[in-house]
Parts: sequence; C-alpha cells; structure tokens
Amino acid sequence: MDIILYPDPRLRARNQPITSFDAALAETAEEMFELMYKNQGVGLAAPQVGANIRLMVFNPGEKEGETGEEIVLCNPKIVAKSKDKEHGDEGCLSFPGVSGSIARHLFVRVTAQNLQGEKIDLEFRDWDARVFQHEFDHLDGLVFVERMTAVDKTVAKPILEELRADWADAQTASQEG
Ligand code: CO
Repeated sequence: MDIILYPDPRLRARNQPITSFDAALAETAEEMFELMYKNQGVGLAAPQVGANIRLMVFNPGEKEGETGEEIVLCNPKIVAKSKDKEHGDEGCLSFPGVSGSIARHLFVRVTAQNLQGEKIDLEFRDWDARVFQHEFDHLDGLVFVERMTAVDKTVAKPILEELRADWADAQTASQEG
C-alpha cells in the first residue's frame, strides 16, 4: 500500500459505500494507520491509497502533532454542523509541499459505521472537526486545494505544476517499463 499523489485520478473518482465489514476492510484500515503514522499524517482517506471506498482513518490527538485516539469511520455522514467557520493551515499527504489556509466548520456531528458495521454517532470540534472535514472531502473526491483562498492557490500553483510533471513522468516510465 502506498499513498497516491496529485494528480492521480483516483483522488477525484467516486467512492463506493462500504457494504462488507470483513477482515479485508479491517486490514485496509490497519495498513492506512501505519502509512499515516509513517508519514507524520493525522488523517488518511481510502482514495489516497487508491481504494475508492468511503473509509477514513484519523488520529488528531489533543493538539496538532500529538497522538490520541484512533478513529475509523465507514460511510460517514455529516448530520449537523456549526454555522461558524474558522480558517486554519492544512496540508495533505497526497500534496507534498503544498499547504494553505482553509475555512472549516468549528463543529460537526457525524453518523458513521465502525469496522463491524455498527452505527456510531460522534461529535468533533475545532482541530478534530478540521481533520474530519478534510478527510470527508476526500470521500467526495474533493481535495483541499479547491477550497484554498486565491492567494494560497497562487502560491501553490508552481508546486502543483511540479507534481503534475512528476506524475506524467511516472506514467511514461511505467508504460515503458
Ligand atoms: Co488530504
């Protein structure tokens, strides 16, 4: 399992609802956590490892940079959210070198299923809510650069161009190989 990078089309593909809560699913979640920690990430969505299913894992900790409780969500839905939003810096493991300030709801109430398929209800605030919303966007094929301010988009542009060039080179190499 590897983290796929922008502009891999799987980051924008439709993600299927999870219907079988089996050992393979648990194994996928486990491997995603390993990969996330290895890359100093706080969250990872299944499309980022090339699996187009509605699965996300995260561990936002108490504060940025801390490790807390491991959360696995299958088929998450936002059932309520605060009107208030706050801007905060975000990065993404599929966009190395890119960061920007994104407005997120300060609070979200979520319904989802765990790895056993049982319904769970959760509430996230502040940093946790931010991490959740970032990963939730991935499940809708939405990447954080689309939510950036115009200024941050301008800053990100040359890095995105570089990532596109690297990806094109990798495609050519794999076709030749
Ligand atoms: Co991301």
